[in-house]
Amino acid sequence: MANNSKGTIGILTGGGDCPGLNAVIRAVVRRGEQLGYKILGVKDGWKGMLKADAEPLTLESISGILPRGGTILGTSRTNPLKKEEDKKTLLANLKTMGIDFLIAVGGEDTLGVARKLVNENVKVVGVPKTIDNDVEGTDQTFGFDTAVSIVTENIDRLHTTAESHHRVIVVEVMGRHAGWIALISGLAGGADVILIPEEPKTLEEICALIKRRHARGKKFSIVCASEGFQLKGQDTLVTKDKVLDQFGHVLLGGIGDRLAKFIEKETGFETRSTVLGHIQRGGSPTAFDRVLGTRYGVKAVELIEEGKLGHMVCLKGNEITSLPLLDAMTQLKLVDQEWIKLAEIFQG
Ligand code: F6P
Repeated sequence: MANNSKGTIGILTGGGDCPGLNAVIRAVVRRGEQLGYKILGVKDGWKGMLKADAEPLTLESISGILPRGGTILGTSRTNPLKKEEDKKTLLANLKTMGIDFLIAVGGEDTLGVARKLVNENVKVVGVPKTIDNDVEGTDQTFGFDTAVSIVTENIDRLHTTAESHHRVIVVEVMGRHAGWIALISGLAGGADVILIPEEPKTLEEICALIKRRHARGKKFSIVCASEGFQLKGQDTLVTKDKVLDQFGHVLLGGIGDRLAKFIEKETGFETRSTVLGHIQRGGSPTAFDRVLGTRYGVKAVELIEEGKLGHMVCLKGNEITSLPLLDAMTQLKLVDQEWIKLAEIFQG
């Protein structure tokens, strides 16, 4: 039985949701209670810190959440450091809510805030999450494995319909700056063309790959494209609208449709496009993501216990370890040339 003598750990989940968040929350509560901490679940990411909106988490409240997708705490893309007055509110609320330590579970933006709070002497620990797998400092974020499984299954499904109709199908997947989802799912699903932000291609290059394949007697092709892919020489992202979120990101979407029209015109092959969208983030996490989230949650509490504050938990090889948040969030982890070369072997 916890005696709560060690203080209160607040936990929040920010940014886009992803499968495995509940595994982290559950692990933080389980390990936290064992070590004698009280756990407070902050609602809707940083928004909950600005509104002092939180609820105590107990073994009772986390029961049964391990296989559930999303986050029981809710999430938002609120940036609490955008305005000076919000920063003051956040720092004041940490005190009034009785939060001694904070675990921030998030991607680039949420952890970017955590990183800045280190300089404000907030006792914060970061847990990297995103289906995009683009957080520098860890070999993998949880949520990625689930997203890759979903996309791979969908590429398999698109294969049969593309083959039956002798069509090219462009499948658009998430990945704003990093093409990990497109690359790994494309490899696993046997996509014929993989298009990622890190490796722009011209329309002619894309169509040449498809034509080469069709010249070999194949009558269908699957093109797997990241939403952040840009045609070589055209420095514009395809977006849904021009509205920016609080971290300055625009909502991407539409590259698949645009490519499909170009490909049909250029090759003469009937072409369709499919956008997988938020299906990639929804539903139950894979076993891998449940275990990775669990290991991250336990480690986050143990970092607090060891006084290793201002750190982010991470996976290095098969080991869960940590590094200072100040070293972790300096850049995004992009797809490197080794992976790009591997994928090229299977193109066209
Ligand atoms: O979580 C990151 C991400 O998956 C990006 O790949 C994508 O651009 C973004 O989320 C879209 O999220 P939302 O529609 O929730 O803003």
